[in-house]
Amino acid sequence: MTMRQHAVSDDFLRPDSINAFTDALRGAKYNVDAVLERLGEAGQEGLTRNQTMPALDRLGDATDAQADLIRLFPLQQIVPRSRLAAFLDVPALIEAGVLGAIGREGIHADIDVRPYGFTDAAGEWSGWVAADPIPGMDSIVTRTRPNYVLGVSPASTSLAQLTVPDRVGSALDLGAGCGVQSLHLARHADTVTLTDINPRALDMARLTLALNGLDLDVRAGSFYEPVAHDSFDLIVTNPPYVMSPPTDAADRLVYREGGFAGDGLVRHVVREGASHLA
Ligand SMILES: C[S@@+](CC[C@H](N)C(=O)[O-])C[C@H]1O[C@@H](n2cnc3c(N)ncnc32)[C@H](O)[C@@H]1O
Repeated sequence: MTMRQHAVSDDFLRPDSINAFTDALRGAKYNVDAVLERLGEAGQEGLTRNQTMPALDRLGDATDAQADLIRLFPLQQIVPRSRLAAFLDVPALIEAGVLGAIGREGIHADIDVRPYGFTDAAGEWSGWVAADPIPGMDSIVTRTRPNYVLGVSPASTSLAQLTVPDRVGSALDLGAGCGVQSLHLARHADTVTLTDINPRALDMARLTLALNGLDLDVRAGSFYEPVAHDSFDLIVTNPPYVMSPPTDAADRLVYREGGFAGDGLVRHVVREGASHLA
């Protein structure tokens, strides 16, 4: 057995393991349109309130692969191992850090793998994004880990839509988190560099990139430190946004609370950014 250094094992990121997983996702029609249709309006609306009951009702007794993937990932349910084993390599996904076992027969997701899709100037794109499971599902109060990695949020999609889609040589995704901006940037930039201060975020970003067949430059560090000597044609960032973060770093959630008060963080990003634009 290999020891896992990261949230997601390096072994799993190799094309053969990843391809087996994405083939299974594709085979189950685990994509945005099909999943939204399967959830129905009530199921979708319930999920916007972090309530799983309408979606579970809609899935009923169905035991097909798509239903079980929806239960496993967005609905955060425990799913029988024997059913998942019919289309997933469950031991490999447990060793990878994506799934966890509860007793002999129960399987739950430690990482949320969700369909994601968009249409841009190059046409339709469809794939998956990896992030931490959403906390507080069904009003169950749990402590959010300080290094929690947010999935695709309304702010993520707003930024993707605001980004000027011109063809560029190089792009920087600063504070990449789950890697969603890079999925968009890779469509119109020759090279994309992702940075984040949170090692767990970079693990999720690496998984997101691998799931979508992308091999981009991922670097760890704060703000522009990992790209100190580099410049880019385009810089994209959706940085931590809480205006008055807790003063004690131990109380902060890294995805939303930086060490600056007011608009200090954005000011820093913009001012420093000038010297990293080509
Ligand atoms: C609001 S999330 C945005 C994630 C993603 N880019 C998106 O658009 O959804 C902010 C991200 O910035 C990262 N971050 C926080 N402080 C940072 C810093 N000093 N340097 C680099 N990244 C940082 C967090 O770890 C988190 O992944």
